[in-house]
Amino acid sequence: MDSQTQAKCPLSQDEQALLASGTLKDEAILAHPHDFYSVMRRGDPVHYDEQLGSWLVTRHEDISAVQNDPLTFSVNKGYHTQQARGMQDEYQDILRREGGGYFPDAIMSDPPYHTRIRKLMESAFTAHRVKELEPRIREIVIDLLDSVTGKGQADSVKDIAVPLTIRVIVEQLGLEHGLEEKISRWSVAVTAQIGRMQNREQMIENARQICDLQHYLIGKMKERETDPREDMISDIVHAKIAMDDGSVEVLTFEEAVSLIRALLIAGNDTTATAIGNMFYILATRPDVAQALSDNVEDDRFLTRFVEELLRIEPPVRALSRMTTREVTIGETTLPEGAHVLLVYGSGNDDETVFPCPRDFDVSRGNIGRHVAFGGGPHRCVGLSLARMEIKVMAREIIRRMADIKLAIAPEDIRYVPTVATRTIESLPITFTARAA
Ligand code: HEM
Repeated sequence: MDSQTQAKCPLSQDEQALLASGTLKDEAILAHPHDFYSVMRRGDPVHYDEQLGSWLVTRHEDISAVQNDPLTFSVNKGYHTQQARGMQDEYQDILRREGGGYFPDAIMSDPPYHTRIRKLMESAFTAHRVKELEPRIREIVIDLLDSVTGKGQADSVKDIAVPLTIRVIVEQLGLEHGLEEKISRWSVAVTAQIGRMQNREQMIENARQICDLQHYLIGKMKERETDPREDMISDIVHAKIAMDDGSVEVLTFEEAVSLIRALLIAGNDTTATAIGNMFYILATRPDVAQALSDNVEDDRFLTRFVEELLRIEPPVRALSRMTTREVTIGETTLPEGAHVLLVYGSGNDDETVFPCPRDFDVSRGNIGRHVAFGGGPHRCVGLSLARMEIKVMAREIIRRMADIKLAIAPEDIRYVPTVATRTIESLPITFTARAA
C-alpha cells in the first residue's frame, strides 16, 4: 500500500468524529493514540489541531521531508516560540532574575549556526567513546537490578529506568551521585517547557526548578574552568571548535550552559521512557518476552529488539518546527509562521512503511527506518548511548528476571501530561528471580 492508496480509504462516521474532535492534548488520546494517528494519516495527514494551534504532520514520508528541510522548517523558531506555552516573557524574566540568566538552547537552532554546535556535540558521542562506557554502564545496571531482584516486585520506572539513566549521565558529566531526585525534578521542569500542557502556576514552579538547575551547573562550570577533569563539563567549558576556514572558535558562556543543560536533560527522560516501555512490553506480550529470553545471548537479535522497541513505542511523541515561508506538505499548504508538530509516534505506526505496525516484529526488513530518533540534521546526537543503555538493560533483565507481570491494571497506567513525549509515570511489576 502506498500513501496515495491510503489517502483514498474513506473514514467511517466514528473516525470522522475522532478526526474532528481529537487533539494531542487529550489525555485519553495520550493513553491510546493509535486510532487518532491512523485517522489523521488516512483522512487528513497534515491536520490542524485547533486546541494546540499546531499542524500535526503524521505520515512517515512527510515527517522525513520536513526533517530534511531545516531552513523552511525552523527548529529555532518552532522550539523557542513554544517554550513556556506562550508565557515566554514571564518565564525568561524569572530565569534572568533568579536563575543566573536566560540561555536559549544552542542546539535547538538552525544551520549554519546549528552545524557548528552540532559538530561539538557529536565529538562527545562518537561510537568509540560510547563503547568505552559500556562496561561501566553494565555495572550500574547490574547494581540497580540486584537491588530489586530479591524482592520479586519493583516500580520498573521509578526504581530502575529513571535511576539508571540519571546515574549514567551524572557519571559522564562528572557530577556527584545522590542528586537523582533533584535531577529527576529538573528534567520534568525542562521538558515541561516544550510539553504545551502546563498552566501558569506550574510554569512558575518549573521555572524556579530550572533556576536551581542553572545555579548548580554554573557552579560546576566555574570549578572546571580552573580545575579541568576527565568529564564532559570540562570538555564543553574548554571546547575549541575547528572551523572549515581553519580558524578556531570557543563557546560563549551562554552556549556552554545551554549545552550542558541539554545533555543533562535530553537523554534522561527519553531513555528512561524507552526502558519503562520495555518493561511494559515484556509484561504484556509474553511471546516477545519469550523470544528475548531465547535469544538473549544473540547480539544481532538484541540490536533488532531495541530498534523494534523504539519503533513500536517511540518515547518522543511530537516535536516542534515553524515554517519560515509558505510551503506545501503533501496536499496541504501552510503559511509562513505556521507552527508544526512532527508526530514521530504516528510516523512509526505508518502502515505504508511498517506493515501490521502494532505487531512487534524483530524481522522487519526496514527496521532502521523508524523515526524515534528523528532525522536530518537534528537526528538524535545521543542515539548510540541510548541504544547501548537499552540493550545492556534488556540483556541483564532477562538474565535475572522471569515471569514479568504488571502489578496494576493496564487502564490504571498514567502518562506524564505532555505533548512532547509519551512517558509512563510509574509501572509496578512483579517477577520471579532467575537462578544465577
Ligand atoms: C531512547 C532515547 C532517546 C530518544 C528516543 C531520543 C530522541 C530524540 C529525537 C526524536 C531527537 C530529534 C529532535 C528534533 O527532531 O527536533 C533528538 C535530538 C537530540 N537528542 Fe535524543 N533521544 C534519546 C536519547 C538521547 C541521549 C541519551 C542524549 C544525550 C545524552 C540525547 C541528546 C539529544 C540532543 C542533544 C538532541 C538535539 C540534536 C540536534 O538538534 O542536533 N538524546 N533525540
